Amino acid sequence: MSNISPVLNLFSTPGKVAVVTGGSRGLGLHAATALLLSGCSKVYITSRKASACEEAVKALNSIKGITGKAISVPADISKPEEITRLVKEIAKDTDHVDILIANAGATWGAPFGTWKKEYWDKVMTLNVTSVFLLAQEMTPLLAKNATIADPSRVITTASTAGLKGFSTGQNATYSYSASKAAVIHLTKHLAVELGPKRILCNAIAPGFFPSKMANALIDIYGGLEKLSARNLNGRLGQDDDFGGVVVFLSSKAASHINGVVIPVDGGNHLVGDIFRPDDEKPKAKL
Ligand SMILES: NC(=O)c1ccc[n+]([C@@H]2O[C@H](COP(=O)([O-])OP(=O)(O)OC[C@H]3O[C@@H](n4cnc5c(N)ncnc54)[C@H](OP(=O)(O)O)[C@@H]3O)[C@@H](O)[C@H]2O)c1
Repeated sequence: MSNISPVLNLFSTPGKVAVVTGGSRGLGLHAATALLLSGCSKVYITSRKASACEEAVKALNSIKGITGKAISVPADISKPEEITRLVKEIAKDTDHVDILIANAGATWGAPFGTWKKEYWDKVMTLNVTSVFLLAQEMTPLLAKNATIADPSRVITTASTAGLKGFSTGQNATYSYSASKAAVIHLTKHLAVELGPKRILCNAIAPGFFPSKMANALIDIYGGLEKLSARNLNGRLGQDDDFGGVVVFLSSKAASHINGVVIPVDGGNHLVGDIFRPDDEKPKAKL
């Protein structure tokens, strides 16, 4: 006789309290939606623009059938003092957090020869430093209700750019790929540090998903159809692909998974991707 829980209990987040950075749109909004639909009681979403957070919260709270609620806490988490304020604001409303989705991120593209330190700093600060500072400041709230049987979760949004994907040419994204490789390793380091505190830390590495950030790149690299066709499974990421893996990693089903990175890209991380605008294909040397 096996002690398997009913499937719906395994793959859900009943009554859990979650925080989603970059929750106002794109992958963060998919994560917040999926977490509410899977049973979270509170989902705090944060991004710089208060109006975007308010709009997202309004849409999230109108989802049919949810029992939890979305709450807006705008903050610019590229600034350490704003991370401190964000955590304090959340702590006014809840004595614990079960799930942190460290998802907010930025990119920068420029040709190799014109690359500037400021492009480097902006991306590394948000994509790596803020993930560390947020995990550090959120740890007391994450540890509060965490147990061996029911551990809390930190889930970072990395990218296949941190595994084996490179954008080059006019839109080369050196700091982005370096930051995503760094956040994957940081997540593993956090898993070692926080595992004993009953906080599991895992990374998701999406391939291309249409979003405000990705759409400009999708256009530069030939459009949706072309990029879909070059993916091993013939398509790009969809809302459920990200929401589904967020719920899995947040759920009882993943309560013994710590320090992994899950690519969500139809398998393209296996072959590697080099993205270069069409009109910049390297000329063969005679
Ligand atoms: N879409 C893809 O193809 C793809 C693939 C791999 C990885 N990713 C990763 O997925 C994550 C989400 O990207 P996305 O595609 O959903 O991009 P997006 O649509 O541009 O969303 C980015 C989110 O982050 C917020 N944000 C940006 N800077 C912030 C800051 N300083 N402080 C707080 N919030 C900030 C934005 O809101 P505000 O502008 O209001 O601050 C927005 O909510 C990123 O880490 C990205 O690197 C995306």
